[in-house]
Amino acid sequence: MAHKVGIIGGDGIGPEVIAEGLRVIEAAGVELDTVDYDLGGARYLKDGVILTDEILEEWRGLAALYLGAVGAPDVPPGVIERGLLLRMRFVLDLYINFRPFVAPDGSHDFVVIRENTEGTYAGEGGFLRKDTPHEIATQGSVNTRLGVERAIRYAFELATTRNNHLTLVHKTNVLTFSGSLWERTFNEVAAEYPQVETAYNHVDAACIYFVQDPQRYDVIVTDNLFGDILTDLGGAVSGGIGLAPTANLNPEGVSMFEPVHGSAPDIAGQGIANPLAAILSGAMMLNHLGETDAAARIKAAAEAVSSETGTTREMADLVIGKL
Ligand code: IPM
Ligand code: MN
Repeated sequence: MAHKVGIIGGDGIGPEVIAEGLRVIEAAGVELDTVDYDLGGARYLKDGVILTDEILEEWRGLAALYLGAVGAPDVPPGVIERGLLLRMRFVLDLYINFRPFVAPDGSHDFVVIRENTEGTYAGEGGFLRKDTPHEIATQGSVNTRLGVERAIRYAFELATTRNNHLTLVHKTNVLTFSGSLWERTFNEVAAEYPQVETAYNHVDAACIYFVQDPQRYDVIVTDNLFGDILTDLGGAVSGGIGLAPTANLNPEGVSMFEPVHGSAPDIAGQGIANPLAAILSGAMMLNHLGETDAAARIKAAAEAVSSETGTTREMADLVIGKL
């Protein structure tokens, strides 16, 4: 039976790379029953709609969501990001942001588990005395025991299916409140997983290791904002952001799959965006849908052509040729 999947191409290169991802999925023999959602900066500029409660309800009934990228230069920063992407992550409680990285030469492969619903992303804060010389802006970081613990537990479970190695990344030497909650929770859960070797790095040091010694990592668990920054770096040191896929998981509900990269308006409409990150995100989605054989074939094919160059369509054709 076809899996019912919601498609949000979004803005910029989003629709271009998702179209190729869907073509690859079809070529791999998996039937999807797709429902298109015209959402993103372009839609917002057309009629003011960002995301509705009705759409969110519909999404709860789907097998998965497949998203390209959202964000348009003519829309003020934050409107679409907060109103669409983050709202989706929060309302659907997509609390695990699963970002795997594979170096093209196969020299290392690691996963960042980014907490996806809290931290500075939660939106706590505001202005006082706005537009005066005494303006104050605060931006809080929300860390709940529940949110921190479920991300850490997920990471420990994942570590047991890989190489039994997990690193916590934070900034406990400065963020002494949130850092303490993360560290205590990590250590408590670690006691339940004696087979998992653990490590801790401050996020600034982790940036150095990502560049100089990524082999030290297998699974990393970290806070939302640190994870955002670290995973762009992860993309850059393992073949480029054009290769990095994401799963936004709610292990108890509907999950969403998207490339790490953004809408890249500077190259939109030219057919030159690398679709491999979207194709690999599609493979992660198929894995999630139980189509493990097709997922493995797409992943292997995409990795095999990852150092090739070509147009968006040519890259997808290369993948299809290897299936
Ligand atoms: C990502 C993106 C988003 C984020 C933006 C578009 C809100 O950068 O998925 O990493 O910061 O999480
Ligand atoms: Mn990001």
